[in-house]
Amino acid sequence: MSGCLNCFSAPLVKEAQLGEFRSPKGLPRWLHKLYSITRRLNPGFGTMLNAAAAERNKEPILSVLRDSVNTERPLQALEISSGTGQHVVHFAQTLRNITWQPSEYDRQSLASIEAYRSHYQLHNVKPAVYLDASRPHQGWAGIQPESLDLVLNINMIHISPLSCTEGLFRGAGVLLKPQGLLLTYGPYAVNGQITPQSNVDFDYSLRQRNPEWGLKDISFLNSVAQKNGLFLEKIVEMPANNKCLLFRKESLV
Ligand SMILES: C[S@@+](CC[C@H](N)C(=O)[O-])C[C@H]1O[C@@H](n2cnc3c(N)ncnc32)[C@H](O)[C@@H]1O
Repeated sequence: MSGCLNCFSAPLVKEAQLGEFRSPKGLPRWLHKLYSITRRLNPGFGTMLNAAAAERNKEPILSVLRDSVNTERPLQALEISSGTGQHVVHFAQTLRNITWQPSEYDRQSLASIEAYRSHYQLHNVKPAVYLDASRPHQGWAGIQPESLDLVLNINMIHISPLSCTEGLFRGAGVLLKPQGLLLTYGPYAVNGQITPQSNVDFDYSLRQRNPEWGLKDISFLNSVAQKNGLFLEKIVEMPANNKCLLFRKESLV
């Protein structure tokens, strides 16, 4: 399975001009020391990575979130495949009523999320946890069933094996509270059609890199969602031929 650096390939990886890396506050001295030694041995460790796509889409996605979630009540959110950490700190600065749990599968991305967290010092962003979406939710950092109001997943479904998509819906189906929301963002096929040509080309290039990758059809995702107690409530058209899909967990009452 591919790690995050596949997505933030050479031209996209740069040290953010946001200041020096600091190890997160509140750590014991020995852990600070370990951070600095690791950083010396591996200069990429703890870097605030920057993905150009995340920089472009973070504001449009925030706008969908603002329209879809309660902005006053305390809420719990899990982001799956947080990537660099750019999204979670952006959303957390505006949606302060939400406690955000970032997560990643890729170790270097985990370090980047921690670098962003440390830089912004946001009280409503928890330390990032390792989470492999393809694995059963029982291994997802101890997150309890029906404890989440929101699960967020940006640009993972098309660039990971099918087991990740299935794991995402299965996990969200269990961990969301009734009426909770799973929001996914990315490029999708609609009724077997991919448009425009740039997305067709993108799909082709993904499948060349890994036959398990590629744009998934919304009706297929809806059938996976339904098997897990979720239904597709809304599709929001987004810039650059992407979409937000909003899946609601059905209530038993
Ligand atoms: C295109 S990147 C998107 C990252 C971030 N959400 C963004 O939009 O900038 C795809 C992400 O999927 C993650 N990923 C791949 N396999 C995964 C898995 N099994 N479980 C969780 N995340 C995975 C990668 O580590 C990577 O961060």
